[in-house]
Amino acid sequence: AAVVVLASGTGSLLRSLLDAAAAPGYPARIAAVGVDRDCPATAHAEQAGVPHFRVALTDFPDRAAWDVALADVVAAYSPDLVVSAGFMKILGPAFLERFGGRILNTHPALLPSFPGAHGVRDALAYGVKVTGSTVHLVDAGVDTGPILAQEAVSVRPDDDEAGLHERIKVVERRLLAEVVAAVATRGIVSDGRKAVFP
Ligand code: GRF
Repeated sequence: AAVVVLASGTGSLLRSLLDAAAAPGYPARIAAVGVDRDCPATAHAEQAGVPHFRVALTDFPDRAAWDVALADVVAAYSPDLVVSAGFMKILGPAFLERFGGRILNTHPALLPSFPGAHGVRDALAYGVKVTGSTVHLVDAGVDTGPILAQEAVSVRPDDDEAGLHERIKVVERRLLAEVVAAVATRGIVSDGRKAVFP
């Protein structure tokens, strides 16, 4: 299966996917890496010899035009799967129209709790004792799509956002590689609310 990975951040999830995909027998290959800003993800792609592209919102008159441009570039790699690994932009209607049902996102909380850009901070502020990582399908909402996998991470009394996020990311890196492999070999069956690997 061909995968296009989208990232905006440090790209450590991307890095772990690139590593997983380099192992013999891994059922998916990273066809390209896309970013929406200058970020270390590009260097990870470069290092792995994977093509990369940048489609920045600021280079377009509006979000709709950006969304179409992003979908066009991604489509050029004919991906079976698109993975948002710390991509900090909401994918728009044109993108969802093209790739809906085969876009995965990782979220650093146990959805449906604490969606949005500050899942770790919000969980800490609420005082939950357990949070974790969710891999889900992307739909039109913010972190609302069908859940594919989740794993719990305990909150420690002395946790701060950075420390807790790092422990969650250790889980996310493995979970994402496992889910991509499962989707690549078994596909996904989803009724729009629930999703399972057949
Ligand atoms: C991860 O925690 C992911 O769940 C969230 O952004 C973070 C990406 O981390 N959406 P990195 O940039 O791959 O290190």
